[in-house]
Amino acid sequence: METEKVDVLSGIQPTGEAHVGNYLGALKQWVEMQEARRCFYCIVDLHALTTQPDPEALRRASFDLARVFLAIGLDPERSALFLQSEVPGHADLAWVFQCLTPMGELQRMTQFKDKAGAQQGKVNVGLFTYPVLQAADILIYRAREVPVGEDQVQHLELAREIARRFNRVYGKLFPEPRARLSRAARIQGLDGSGKMSKSRNNHIPLLAPPEEIHKRVRKAVTDPQRLRRDDPGRPEVCNVFSLHGHFSPEATVREIEEGCRSAALGCVDCKRMLAENMAAALAPIRERAEALDREPERVREALASGARRARAVAAVTLEGVRDAVGLPV
Ligand code: TRP
Ligand code: SF4
Repeated sequence: METEKVDVLSGIQPTGEAHVGNYLGALKQWVEMQEARRCFYCIVDLHALTTQPDPEALRRASFDLARVFLAIGLDPERSALFLQSEVPGHADLAWVFQCLTPMGELQRMTQFKDKAGAQQGKVNVGLFTYPVLQAADILIYRAREVPVGEDQVQHLELAREIARRFNRVYGKLFPEPRARLSRAARIQGLDGSGKMSKSRNNHIPLLAPPEEIHKRVRKAVTDPQRLRRDDPGRPEVCNVFSLHGHFSPEATVREIEEGCRSAALGCVDCKRMLAENMAAALAPIRERAEALDREPERVREALASGARRARAVAAVTLEGVRDAVGLPV
């Protein structure tokens, strides 16, 4: 059976509304990558179950994220956009991989240690085997490249190790996927406390109306040494400045940098400019999302066709795996 070759696979969890951090850190690159390569983009709803979300909220979040996929310009004719749970093979392959993975390797995963903390014996097993399911997400499509943020590099290394181990034990079936780090360094939250995330409420929703963008940007933490209007600031430590780099034209960014250092520019004006530029840049995305609200069929159809394509590729890999490990084919 002839199936399509997949160059790129990535996944994102449907947890709450997509925000500017998700967009700059990941989704924007996804759109760029589909120009030249065959891309599969997956909403990892099975991974989301590790936090036991409210069932209706999970369904809603998955659909909303698919709507965001289309609104930012992912093209369902080119890229396969689908829900992980609509391709049954992910969980099957994850089981085969679990049987090849030493517990020690998963105990070393930083993300697991962060999430489980001192409660290792109490967290659910899904949180522990999460990276194995992630390896299955990638390897079931025999994808070569995986665009991810810095925090996923360790999980990618594990996926490579699993591919090598499978190939060694059962014969070569999987290529080793490479992580492709996004150019945008991780996007800080507005409170300066680390990564932008909805759970810390330090985010700007991607579909926020202009008033909300202004309101949130106004509260953003800036250079802590700039206590008075006349104090010179340090753009390199200011969160607002780094966001300017993503939303304001080059020339403006240079003017802001100078204005900040010389104290000619105050934070209030600087933030107002950022909010205006951000609102203008995100307006087309919001308009497309609103249009899709009136045509939910288009979102559902994109997911259905994406899942069909994904299932076709996954079925071929899975048959190879079943054959290799000694299950009936
Ligand atoms: N663990 C990833 C994250 O938290 C999400 C993810 C799941 C993923 N499966 C994937 C990313 C496969 C890339 C490829 O960001
Ligand atoms: Fe940050 Fe702008 Fe204030 Fe400088 S002027 S500290 S870049 S908000």
